[in-house]
Amino acid sequence: MIFPEKKIGILGGGQLGKMLCIAAAPWHLKIAVLDKDPSFPAAPYCTEFVKGDFSEYDDVMNFGKDLDIITIEIEGVNSKALHDLKKMGKAVFPDPEFLDIVKDKGRQNQFYRVHRLPTTRFSSFDQLTKLKEKVDNGDWKFPFVWKSRFEGYDGRGVAIVKSDDELNSLPKGACLIEELVDIEKELAIIVCRNENGEKSVYGAVEMVFHEANLLDQLESPANIDPAIEHKMKEIAFELVDSVDYRGILAIEFFLDKKGNLLINEVAPRPHNSGHHTIECCPCSQYEQLIRMILNLPPGDTTSTQQGIMFNLLGHPDYSGQAKIEGFQQALNTKNVHLHWYGKPQTRPMRKMGHVVVAGENRKEILSTAEDLKKKIIIKS
Ligand SMILES: Nc1ncnc2c1ncn2[C@@H]1O[C@H](COP(=O)(O)OP(=O)(O)OP(=O)(O)O)[C@@H](O)[C@H]1O
Ligand SMILES: [Mg+2]
Repeated sequence: MIFPEKKIGILGGGQLGKMLCIAAAPWHLKIAVLDKDPSFPAAPYCTEFVKGDFSEYDDVMNFGKDLDIITIEIEGVNSKALHDLKKMGKAVFPDPEFLDIVKDKGRQNQFYRVHRLPTTRFSSFDQLTKLKEKVDNGDWKFPFVWKSRFEGYDGRGVAIVKSDDELNSLPKGACLIEELVDIEKELAIIVCRNENGEKSVYGAVEMVFHEANLLDQLESPANIDPAIEHKMKEIAFELVDSVDYRGILAIEFFLDKKGNLLINEVAPRPHNSGHHTIECCPCSQYEQLIRMILNLPPGDTTSTQQGIMFNLLGHPDYSGQAKIEGFQQALNTKNVHLHWYGKPQTRPMRKMGHVVVAGENRKEILSTAEDLKKKIIIKS
């Protein structure tokens, strides 16, 4: 094979785009990135940074028309443009049709229902008043989980609703409601599949959440019965086969107190729950995506060591030019990998970087992570 001389573009220049660009460097691939500002994390690591808005049709079309392959690091992109680029013969990952399903949480849950994939009981509405009717006539009873159908992320656009007052204070637009799951654990898995239908899956990880609903800590491997992990992998393969999926897909699950696995949501791109694959697996999720979009064989997804990952969030009391405290201590600790995204400005709870503590002994790496969380602080 002649080494692929394909021109690849990523919509989005955040940290996920940056790690994708870095993963492409060993093969000397050319990666263009579209985003608003050249101060964004991916800009110094791509071969071409194009300034523009990935949610605008014209910007995405202008960016994509000279490329062979287009992929994303964020869902909020202009999908009409992706449909049109696909019609022009460009390879688009994920498929724009699947992206449209994911972007609407109502359609997403409907997709699981139609494909008989396990998910929570739900109802989807075009506007809040329709939901109120269902509550008034007794079809849905408090408490339940309300979600905005569009553009929710990091827990914004999700609320537990316990009363009429809470219901009345919700945004009026399109929404989805779900049964409140009695959660034992939140789990995730990343699956990949290429055009040949070759697929692979990483080990299950466990996610622990902070009050602010941003991922607080990720633990790999998940501390679960192997039969549960096996089931997660089966569901993951079934899902990607059912839509002839190409690329990588992160699947978030709930394990309820009765031992049922339920799909919460999917992300058709690199995901927070796969950061540790850089240090803990021979092939990272980022290299894996590049392999998939070039129709190359899946890389080795084995976990070679355990990992604890936590996000470095902007301190709640600081905004302004970012400064990191505790960098030296982190680097002085064995098998600690610090990623700094290079965002010039910090804001309360903004994702500024992440740390992976890797090793063989779970107790040891958990306590190292706890210790470092106190020492590494993002101020201004
Ligand atoms: N049906 C449910 N029952 C109980 N808890 C839920 C339910 N749906 C969501 N949650 C809780 O809310 C969190 C955020 O929900 P969800 O993942 O749908 O939102 P998001 O904002 O799109 O997510 P992300 O944080 O992945 O960007 C979940 O991780 C879970 O803790
Ligand atoms: Mg989520």
